[in-house]
Amino acid sequence: MSDIILETQNLSRHFGALMAVDDVTLQFERSLVYAVLGPNGAGKTTLINLLSGEILPSGGSIRFKDQDITNLPANAISQLGIGRSFQKTNIFPNFTCFENCRLAAQSRMKGSFSFFKPALSYRQINQQAERALEMCGLSMRCHTLAQAMSYGEQRQLEIGMMLATGPELLLLDEPLAGMGADESLKVIELLRRLAKEHTLILIEHDMDAVFAVADRLAVMVNGRLLETGTVAEVRASKAVQEAYLGAEEEH
Ligand SMILES: Nc1ncnc2c1ncn2[C@@H]1O[C@H](COP(=O)(O)OP(=O)(O)O)[C@@H](O)[C@H]1O
Ligand SMILES: [Mg+2]
Repeated sequence: MSDIILETQNLSRHFGALMAVDDVTLQFERSLVYAVLGPNGAGKTTLINLLSGEILPSGGSIRFKDQDITNLPANAISQLGIGRSFQKTNIFPNFTCFENCRLAAQSRMKGSFSFFKPALSYRQINQQAERALEMCGLSMRCHTLAQAMSYGEQRQLEIGMMLATGPELLLLDEPLAGMGADESLKVIELLRRLAKEHTLILIEHDMDAVFAVADRLAVMVNGRLLETGTVAEVRASKAVQEAYLGAEEEH
């Protein structure tokens, strides 16, 4: 089996005249953790949205495990095994943690909205939801309404919902955004656990977190891929030092 789980070829997406993602060719190796870096507006979220099928590309192609997924809708891509979390929380506040995960698990099943399903598949769905809650560290909160939890726990639940879909590859858009130091540490630990069994593509501004989990970095500026490589390679890159680190200091 190929070591490349996901690849893009000349992937582009424009919004009017703006090239949000501009001719990005990138390969992701199975089982590694990738951090996508770049200043605000660089096109990081748009790239993730393209990979997850939230939006369609204007040009180029995407392959996942040797299958062309370029124009597949988000639900089909999720069913193939690409999970994603959002920059803003995406949970149902009036549902319990378990119910949120069960809904997510159900979305992975083909024909999930049919009324008559064999009991086994419901059992499987429940087991998958339980396992996801355990993995994301929220088993104790199983029957707690999502809205009754802290912001950090809600973000954890969101990762649990993604896990409930049984993905091989996880797309995470700023999983630490808005979290306090303690919550951040918890989620960094969670990411390290997930990294043992998944390929991760992560957008994150917290460089401590990036260095703690990432095997490879991809740096974007103005929609373009500026550099990819190991942490050491990217740190040594002149292009990155000039463009990205310069922009970073302006924050
Ligand atoms: N739906 C959209 N419509 C118009 N412009 C958009 C849309 N989504 C993103 N953009 C623009 O595309 C560029 C890249 O945005 P984004 O991918 O969110 O950047 P990042 O996540 O790196 O901060 C920005 O200039 C942003 O304003
Ligand atoms: Mg973003």
